[in-house]
Amino acid sequence: MNNTVSVLEPARFDVAAVRREFPVLARTIHGHPLAFLDNGASAQRPSAVIAAVDDYERHHHANIHRGVHALSQEATALYENARDRIVPFVNARSRQEIVFVRGTTEAINLVAQSYARPLLRPGDEILITHLEHHANIVPWQMVCDQTGATLVVAPIDERGEVHFEAVEALMSPRTKLLACAHVSNSLGTVLPVHRLVAAAKARGIVTLIDGAQAIPHLPVDVQALDCDFYAFSAHKVFGPTGIGVLYGRESVLERMPPWQGGGDMILTVSFAKTTYNALPYKFEAGTPNISGVVGLGAAIDWLGTLDLEAAHAHESELLAYATEVLEGIEGLRVIGTAADKASLVSFVVAGVHPHDLGTILDQDGIAIRTGHHCAQPVMDFFRVPATARASFAFYNTFEEIDRLGASVARARRLFT
Ligand SMILES: Cc1ncc(COP(=O)(O)O)c(C=O)c1O
Repeated sequence: MNNTVSVLEPARFDVAAVRREFPVLARTIHGHPLAFLDNGASAQRPSAVIAAVDDYERHHHANIHRGVHALSQEATALYENARDRIVPFVNARSRQEIVFVRGTTEAINLVAQSYARPLLRPGDEILITHLEHHANIVPWQMVCDQTGATLVVAPIDERGEVHFEAVEALMSPRTKLLACAHVSNSLGTVLPVHRLVAAAKARGIVTLIDGAQAIPHLPVDVQALDCDFYAFSAHKVFGPTGIGVLYGRESVLERMPPWQGGGDMILTVSFAKTTYNALPYKFEAGTPNISGVVGLGAAIDWLGTLDLEAAHAHESELLAYATEVLEGIEGLRVIGTAADKASLVSFVVAGVHPHDLGTILDQDGIAIRTGHHCAQPVMDFFRVPATARASFAFYNTFEEIDRLGASVARARRLFT
């Protein structure tokens, strides 16, 4: 029997071992060990990602798809191999369905301009929810302005939940597209996306899921979900910034005109006529973020070495513990108490402005996000200008949450 264990073989989840993979977690901030609880904004990168980008930049960089020389071919192979690794990561049917974009924001803008704009007529509707990030609101407002279509917003309740029935009730023959988050970035609510997509599909409504906050916390299977589009950013899932993915159902992408014109997205160009490249290149005009794609591929490979089920279970425990610790602090109100939440807690503390809270926590070496989290309608709904948000990754610890609780309590004592 062979007793050797491949380095790529999934190992039991071990927080201390995982932390050692992230160089930044060894840092101190203002004399304290860094407690990085701002993963919802951007997660940190493991050494495997840093090394892959470094190796690409040092040894393989050239422009892709155009050179016969060795470096160009190496760079092209690295770029395209990363695409092949994203296919199983989200369970797409083929590499044609994986379009590289700058991030979730660009993915949604691409769909708004390339899918929705040519299709929409005055009186048509786009359905979103009250929980959306601005990136899943503003591109639709822009396309509504351009076409005379109307943006319809499904409500949330006092717990920050989106009820399937409330969204379904707003689906009508006028609804041309349903665009909603998989997980809310401001509250952590997990939306009932499977049921929503099924109900939309039954009515012939095309669906886009904003997966920016789901991708680090939930397994994503676009075929099981059956959505037409799924968007995510590499930097939320331990990859580089400035790179992301638009998954699109091949039959829908085929029907869409290119969004941006330029190099690489064409087959032939003459002044009389241009013919477009095949999928997915039709949507990748110009020199792309090659090192970003290499880093994203490395992040996905690295995630494949973890026991993600155990990692996600650890995150759930962190969420439950953080909720308990924070709710125990006098004057603290958790905003967003949905039954199904991913790994973040939004909260306000009576008498302490969230920005002051963020500053005090920073002095204690704890990084959280304060503000409206690009979700101003959610803040308006809860009648708060801003919240403090602690968002977790599987490398966070219970001890960091104890420090968070102690620091929030200290801030409250200072201000009240
Ligand atoms: C739910 C959600 N959608 C969209 C975005 C935008 O992502 P990016 O800025 O990477 O394009 C974010 C980023 O925080 C997000 O949380």
